[in-house]
Amino acid sequence: MATKRFTAAIDQGTTSTRFFIFDDKGEPVAKHQEEFKQLYPHAGWIEHDPSVLVASARSCIDQATAKFLELGHKPEDIAAIGITNQRETSIVWDSRTGKALHNAIVWCDSRTTHHVRHFKTKTGADTILQRTGLPLSTYPSAVKVKWILDHCKPARDAYDEGHLAFGTVDSWLLYNLAVGPDGEKLHVTDVTNASRTQLMNIDTLEFDASLLSFFELDKLLLPRLAPSADDSAYGAIADGPLKGVRVTGCLGDQSAALVGQKAFKEGMAKNTYGTGCFMLYNTGNKPVISTNGLLTTIAFQWKDQKPVYALEGSIAVAGSAVKFLRDNLGIIKEAHEIGPLAAKVPDSGGVVFVTAFGGLFAPYWIDDAQGTIFGITHYTTREHICRATVEATCFQTKAIIDAMEKDSGIKLQTLAVDGGMSNSDECMQLQADIIGINVDRPAIRETTALGAAIAAGFGAAVWHSFDDLKGVNARNHRSFTTKTTQEQQDRRFNRWEKAVEMSKGWLTTE
Ligand code: G3P
Repeated sequence: MATKRFTAAIDQGTTSTRFFIFDDKGEPVAKHQEEFKQLYPHAGWIEHDPSVLVASARSCIDQATAKFLELGHKPEDIAAIGITNQRETSIVWDSRTGKALHNAIVWCDSRTTHHVRHFKTKTGADTILQRTGLPLSTYPSAVKVKWILDHCKPARDAYDEGHLAFGTVDSWLLYNLAVGPDGEKLHVTDVTNASRTQLMNIDTLEFDASLLSFFELDKLLLPRLAPSADDSAYGAIADGPLKGVRVTGCLGDQSAALVGQKAFKEGMAKNTYGTGCFMLYNTGNKPVISTNGLLTTIAFQWKDQKPVYALEGSIAVAGSAVKFLRDNLGIIKEAHEIGPLAAKVPDSGGVVFVTAFGGLFAPYWIDDAQGTIFGITHYTTREHICRATVEATCFQTKAIIDAMEKDSGIKLQTLAVDGGMSNSDECMQLQADIIGINVDRPAIRETTALGAAIAAGFGAAVWHSFDDLKGVNARNHRSFTTKTTQEQQDRRFNRWEKAVEMSKGWLTTE
């Protein structure tokens, strides 16, 4: 890196927004984070106010940049900015006014169960997984937009008149925070985010008219598609302390975490514990369609290069279950208490918590499962509940690893981890004990933001090859070695799978 030694990233996640400025070793030198309000209008519904997402990004940029300047650096020292974001979360706006016409419907919102059932009966339903990499479910964007059209008159009117613009969160942030070379508004997204809409064909990397037609969204205005690292697609920051700094990277948060872990080669995988938990397994330049309940997604694509694909195992509830214990049940005061409490007991005392708060995602895809706790007795303590909550994510991770091994034919040797729950030694030990594979944790766990900064660095020609990243995120990995026997692993996992079976069919409309 010549004089511009820093790259930066906006990380707009499900519960908070962050802005990081990294040095050339991938160490954060300045950062700021803001949580924002989750809106729960009905059971199973989760929304975000689109203007709050933009305001929180602006505020994080302002605060982190102020810290950066205090250290004696200048805005010009930042070579480029990357954007990474919660994926699938869908926003529609009037292209004439730029005004959002509905709250963002968040990725894990399950209001669209009935729409999904409708789409499953349509001609062509059996081709959707092969063409998009995603099964028909409440998760991708397309069905969320269809719901908005069916329930929000201003959005339907704008759509009928051909003025309804759609974007995932990256697209919405770029529309509001960046401008093109002539000061024009941008309506753009990258291929990793687009691969989560269920409107893009994963082979051609183009939005597909027949998919739009299938989801009854023919007249929707879609963003322009661009690679995840690109020197000219994403414009520059429009105003504020970083006005004029180029945006040259954009990718969904799970893709960004894979990049931040430097899992660039086929066969490498990472597991990120955030609000949900997402494992991505790099399958190289070819999409692999799962026959075991996994998704196929774009891992990343640098400009003028072939896309890299991944198999993905998505768990809808991970950190949000810890938040649930804290905010709804009040059995912990701080999220970080969960690991030590879970480790106080030798096992869950027979308790199994299927954290299916909005159905179960990979590899099960059970729309009508709901959160269910089995095995409560007079013996049960809050430590058992805490342990069963952590185990729920760990068991689903095991189910996903099993599915990945079946799809790829390759046995995973180590699980690379990052994200909130990975900070807990106790939770990572539990994870290693449940999967029977060693868990590897890097010193820098902010891999999502780092991955977006790396993409931006490639887009701005700060780095040219993966070899240039040798010194980035390289220090102090910690390994957790499994301490259980195969017999223990199998017995516990079988009990989990039985509980999953029993959690089916609970969805009611009361
Ligand atoms: O697909 C949803 C995912 O992108 C959300 O990630 O980190 O906010 O749980 P996270």
